[in-house]
Amino acid sequence: MTEEFDALLVSQQDAVFKNEIKSLKIDDLPENDLLIKVRYSSLNYKDALSASGNKGVTRKFPHVPGIDAAGFVIESKSPDFREGDKVIVTGFDLGMNTYGGFGEYIRVPAQWAIMLPDGLSLKESMSLGTAGLTAGLSIDKIISAGITSGAVVVSGATGGVGSMATAILSKLGFEVTAISGKNENHFLTSVLGASKILDREEFLEKYDTKPLSPADFSAGVDNVGGPILSGILKSVRQNGMVTCCGNVASADLATSVFPFILRGVTLAGIDSAQADINRRRKVWNALATDWKPLHLDEMIQEIDLHQLPEKLKELLDGKARGRYILKHKD
Ligand SMILES: NC(=O)c1ccc[n+]([C@@H]2O[C@H](COP(=O)([O-])OP(=O)(O)OC[C@H]3O[C@@H](n4cnc5c(N)ncnc54)[C@H](OP(=O)(O)O)[C@@H]3O)[C@@H](O)[C@H]2O)c1
Repeated sequence: MTEEFDALLVSQQDAVFKNEIKSLKIDDLPENDLLIKVRYSSLNYKDALSASGNKGVTRKFPHVPGIDAAGFVIESKSPDFREGDKVIVTGFDLGMNTYGGFGEYIRVPAQWAIMLPDGLSLKESMSLGTAGLTAGLSIDKIISAGITSGAVVVSGATGGVGSMATAILSKLGFEVTAISGKNENHFLTSVLGASKILDREEFLEKYDTKPLSPADFSAGVDNVGGPILSGILKSVRQNGMVTCCGNVASADLATSVFPFILRGVTLAGIDSAQADINRRRKVWNALATDWKPLHLDEMIQEIDLHQLPEKLKELLDGKARGRYILKHKD
């Protein structure tokens, strides 16, 4: 196909990384099972890292970021998909070293795609995106450990994964304590449904100054790492479960062993990018039904390609609230 399409291309000149809207040829996308016309993508912290030249995420430039994409199959070499199917692709290598959803077309292996579940529109699937899937995988771990009610603490609560985790847990009837560095009380309580808000510093003072803290929570969903994860581990009660998926605060974890040896607490790592396809389907089906956040529309802001660089910078600086959804032109 000689047809051209628009994409946010990140290129490197010496140590400087430029983000520009460029016209690319579909023919230039390497051969693969599926050619997909992307209708929506979404912005994740990993995209902000890729767009700023982080070599831990993207090794080679020029590159088109976007770890999330939802759209229509245009060509399929797989018996599992037909032209016109609505599909979701998140994680694997998409947007890392494979051109991603910040372009209007992608080519990917069929194993990376899942059919859009009944109950979700393409827009809703990207409103959730990797953030929703990661929150869902975290909550699935907690529920699978037999924790089905009670108080749960969520960090980075106004961010992508944090806002999704807060909204889903609240919908499921958990009492959510939201840890946040922002003054966003209305968003956290009325839109996401949090029962209580703790400022980051307030949380650390209360829960990370001793080897063990008051056991106020049944479980925790940590999205930031560092001292906050340490405090969460110390504040979860007997046989509690804490999930860990992110490192925006720190990649280090200095804590005490007491939560593990005196309370039997489990620390579970979450990796949505390589999550097994059956677990993905299970979580996407839950997200399409009982777990779909009540006020999903109010948790997102729709943007176009031209607004991407500014919003990626916001994400990198920890200033974003909720989720940004990228809509490509029709
Ligand atoms: N393992 C996986 O599968 C997976 C999947 C998705 C994301 N992640 C990771 O999870 C993390 C969150 O991703 P995201 O897309 O939700 O990012 P995001 O939208 O940027 O949200 C991160 C939130 O963390 C809080 N935060 C920022 N800087 C902080 C700091 N210095 N100390 C404490 N809290 C801070 C902020 O929320 P408040 O202002 O409300 O505190 C911010 O909005 C990232 O590290 C990302 O790479 C991992």
